[in-house]
Amino acid sequence: SKKPVIAIDGPSGSGKSTVSKTLATALESAYLDTGSMYRAATYAVIQAGVDTSDADQVVKTATGADLKFGTKPEDPFTVVGGEDASAAIRSEEVTAAVSAVASQPAVRENLIKMQRGIIAKAKSGIVVEGRDIAEVVAPDADLKVYLTADPAERARRRAAETDGDESSTQASIDKRDKADSKTTRPLEAPEGSHVIDSTELPIVEVVAKILALLNNRN
Ligand code: C5P
Repeated sequence: SKKPVIAIDGPSGSGKSTVSKTLATALESAYLDTGSMYRAATYAVIQAGVDTSDADQVVKTATGADLKFGTKPEDPFTVVGGEDASAAIRSEEVTAAVSAVASQPAVRENLIKMQRGIIAKAKSGIVVEGRDIAEVVAPDADLKVYLTADPAERARRRAAETDGDESSTQASIDKRDKADSKTTRPLEAPEGSHVIDSTELPIVEVVAKILALLNNRN
């Protein structure tokens, strides 16, 4: 039988990366972190010395970049211009610039095309996480989940991951959510998606809920 395409949308700190990787591992399916693709494009722009406010150069550099992504949940690597950029795409510099790069329609078009190609080739099914997956990238997904959590809990989790303090992390999450809201709708559940609030749920319970939804779909 056809293996499922599962869309997981949600804002930063909602737990979507950990949940999506765990789910893909449990299902023995592929995993695609679309956020890492926008980060990779941003890293390429920064590496090229392009000013992120120069739209023409941003589009040219981001769409011309040689990007490769690993889709195994145990090793979701990112390669930019032949260089392993898996760690570099998580830097503060990239995080601060990514919303501006992701707001360019031509950049999105290019990456969405790439995302759809990866999804179409995923014979063992795929878990795709991001912000516009259910509505734009994979509207035909077999299951759509919107993961959310209270802002304070999201900041606490992100601060723990990055060794930062909670109030400055909260401020940077708010800033990125606001910037991203001009392009996608990270703070709204897409139509047809199952909303799971993970504020008080451990990862395994969120994954169990999604597996139950998958088994109960008609
Ligand atoms: O999920 P992550 O924090 O790695 O995403 C980084 C950025 O990439 C987001 O803040 C957003 O600007 C962009 N993004 C997007 N559409 C997606 C995934 C990420 O615009 N599907």
